[in-house]
Amino acid sequence: MTEAQKFLKKAYTLKGGAHTKSFYKDWAASYEQEIKDNGYATPYRCAAALAACQTDKSVAVLDLGCGTGLSGEALKAAGFATLDGTDFSQEMLTYAQGKQGLYRSLKLGNLDNPLPAEPGVYGAAAAVGVFSPGHATAEMIGKVMDLLTAGGCFVFSLNDNALKDPSYETEIAGLQSQGLAEEAFREYGDHLPKIGMKCIVCVLRRV
Ligand SMILES: C[S@@+](CC[C@H](N)C(=O)[O-])C[C@H]1O[C@@H](n2cnc3c(N)ncnc32)[C@H](O)[C@@H]1O
Repeated sequence: MTEAQKFLKKAYTLKGGAHTKSFYKDWAASYEQEIKDNGYATPYRCAAALAACQTDKSVAVLDLGCGTGLSGEALKAAGFATLDGTDFSQEMLTYAQGKQGLYRSLKLGNLDNPLPAEPGVYGAAAAVGVFSPGHATAEMIGKVMDLLTAGGCFVFSLNDNALKDPSYETEIAGLQSQGLAEEAFREYGDHLPKIGMKCIVCVLRRV
């Protein structure tokens, strides 16, 4: 891959909506190679954190912003067999669709409006690499919590760029102070070690 073909650094300058969608359309074919070349650790960290908090592995997991399915592969390796994926990029989803048997269902859908599920149906949800500037907004954290059954767990990552935006931590604190969620797990560690990018992996449990 030449410098001109690389996308990763541009992923942190996205403006959201159509701009972000068009970016992932162009990145889909080389996404996995580039992100793996940079040591992408977050899917495995998130899957391990979810497995530690949601011990019933038979629950269905909603993988929001599933992309090409790297997050689904990590969730499956951690023991979660029933995965529903969603993403607003058809080009990214096409690669996930090519991974036979990985997802029970895959749906095209924008996390911002509306979320692709009825409230209170999922025992777990994941958003790996999805809360980041120009991607999904902080309010989506609370909306995803609404999709969970009582006691259900939501694992997500917040990379160093997301952590510069206080809205994500404000949303997490607000859900806890309203008694809607409790933080079951938090750890700061590797995200993309080859470019020195770290992230928080957080699990919120629906109260
Ligand atoms: C960095 S990729 C992560 C993909 C996958 N979870 C992984 O770990 O490889 C971010 C994904 O989020 C999707 N995405 C970003 N904003 C979105 C939104 N508002 N609604 C739906 N999908 C979104 C992108 O299309 C992309 O596939």
